[in-house]
Amino acid sequence: MSKPKIAQDFSDLYGHAPQVCAQAPGRVNLIGEHVDFSDGFVLPFAIKNCTYAAIRKRQDRTIKISSVQRRNKVFTISLDDVNPQRAGQWERYVLAVIWALGIDCGLEILIDGRVPIGAGLSSSAALECSVAVALNELFALNLSLEDLARQTQRAENEYVGMPCGIMDQSVSLMAIDGAALLLDCRDLTTRSISFDVASAGLELLIIDTQVHHALIDGGYAERRATCESVAAIFGVKALRDLSMETLNSRRDILTETQYQRAHHSISEISRVLEAVAALESQNFKLLGELLNQSHASLRDDYTVSCPELDCAVAAAISAGALGARMVGGGFGGSAIALIAAAQVEETERAIQNAFKLAGFKSPRFFTSLPSAGAQVIS
Ligand code: GLA
Repeated sequence: MSKPKIAQDFSDLYGHAPQVCAQAPGRVNLIGEHVDFSDGFVLPFAIKNCTYAAIRKRQDRTIKISSVQRRNKVFTISLDDVNPQRAGQWERYVLAVIWALGIDCGLEILIDGRVPIGAGLSSSAALECSVAVALNELFALNLSLEDLARQTQRAENEYVGMPCGIMDQSVSLMAIDGAALLLDCRDLTTRSISFDVASAGLELLIIDTQVHHALIDGGYAERRATCESVAAIFGVKALRDLSMETLNSRRDILTETQYQRAHHSISEISRVLEAVAALESQNFKLLGELLNQSHASLRDDYTVSCPELDCAVAAAISAGALGARMVGGGFGGSAIALIAAAQVEETERAIQNAFKLAGFKSPRFFTSLPSAGAQVIS
């Protein structure tokens, strides 16, 4: 096997070879948004864009972190200063994983991040998982993919301070080539769901609105807390355990916001299971309708969309898409549209024109087949 590029880049930077290299992909979530922390079901798949990590142990307690994107800047810190109170730039996602896995050894690390940042495609989970998989191998930690998902989520929750659910790390680690991953966020069991849009003459277009979102800013946490407050009021562990009938029967004890957030969560969890059935019966028309319903619910009940995402979705549907919706945390980032493969260019043009008319920055488009999860590459 030829040497991975990240290994060569590492040698060029640090003057010797890495001991381990790993890669981890970003993700697109087909459906099941903002329900992972409610123990719901989600249906993401990994995209082909990955983040690469190359690592070597040091004899002292110094950690050096650099990236191909910022080649000449090496961030240096003592292992003794790695703690959640430390602010920092992107390097803190790497430190968070070192901290969560309890690594007690100096390291040299090089990252090559190829997942677009702030596009709602989980660049942070890809970064965390590439480092986690590399460290798991380097220190022979023998952690399972489920353990790694829980530890990388803990890294992001407790070290970075973003109260994310477990979807992004799980799919980055467990994704299956050619399939979407039905993930039960309660126990992390998975089922591979064939997602072969191509043979139905379809394509899943990813539209990056170029509105960069920062989920750490509070809107995400506030909504998660509201969902948890509703679960507490009804005395259930999570919203996954609440039926729409029960929610509706006691609407009077909730604020309007609590009702709307819970309404989104409960309806979205059902839509995931309906989407699985639609995919299993190759009913792409129904899948499209579920995507549209998911977007409306995220826009109106959960209020995490933004004008650019709504514009992308509306333009895609007017151009003939079977369905479209925002993906990921929201407040910017990307949307997806399920369209006829023959209409990719036409749809892109329609969205581009709609953005121009609205005075928005031009969006970026890409497509990706469902790809494999994280792995060691040398
Ligand atoms: C972000 C979080 C995930 C998930 C999504 C919304 O990507 O990291 O845990 O909650 O938002 O579905």
